[in-house]
Amino acid sequence: MIVLQADQISFRYPRGPLLVENAHLHVQAGECVAVTGPSGSGKSTLLHILSGIIPRSIQGEVSGEILLCGDNLSQLSLAETVRRVGVVFQDPEAQIFFPTVEGEIAFGLENLCLPEGDMERLISSSLEAVGMAEYRYRAVKDLSQGQKQLIALAAVLAMEPRLLILDEVFASLDESGTQVVQKVIEDYKHSGRAVLLVEHDPEQFSVVDRLYHLAGGRLREVVQ
Ligand SMILES: Nc1ncnc2c1ncn2[C@@H]1O[C@H](COP(=O)(O)OP(=O)(O)O)[C@@H](O)[C@H]1O
Ligand SMILES: [Mg+2]
Repeated sequence: MIVLQADQISFRYPRGPLLVENAHLHVQAGECVAVTGPSGSGKSTLLHILSGIIPRSIQGEVSGEILLCGDNLSQLSLAETVRRVGVVFQDPEAQIFFPTVEGEIAFGLENLCLPEGDMERLISSSLEAVGMAEYRYRAVKDLSQGQKQLIALAAVLAMEPRLLILDEVFASLDESGTQVVQKVIEDYKHSGRAVLLVEHDPEQFSVVDRLYHLAGGRLREVVQ
């Protein structure tokens, strides 16, 4: 089963040059796929397009077709989208809006109008998955950069998206944080969900099954 199928994706920011040209990418259930490429080549932009943040929240001209679990992304509501795809950004500060860890994780879930019991279960299981259960009632401002990154990940995991997107998250993580995230990726793969990540040097991660390279607006699959 294909979780993400993106075809003929082209993109430019308003009044900007063509940044992505005719890109094709797919991610199957059980796979971890990586995108690499030079700084400024448009990797983060591509992740924003594939998760609908562009054009929903950031303006730009997108063409092409994106199917998430078979449904056209442009026709999904926000609530439907967040159950299919969740993104952890490069900079956790850009993603965290609430003063407490619990508040941050509860926020996304509140928008899904879940029963109280489900919310409780998802908050505790997502914090456990990132090894941060004892930080539930802590203030976000007292956490390290790596811990903030793990909380941003927990907030996304709580929504149980079929596709987990990680944008250079390993850069801010220490050894134990890296192991935690690798375990999350393995669990995602084994449960038939999927992961798409951007990394400078993805070959160091044994969890990666396939690799694409983005440079000069062109996305190519790297055959290993
Ligand atoms: N919101 C935006 N508006 C206009 N240009 C942007 C915006 N975000 C990024 N860019 C530009 O798009 C290009 C690609 O950026 P980005 O996707 O962040 O690349 P990467 O993640 O590969 O480093 C850069 O030239 C960057 O300055
Ligand atoms: Mg980037």
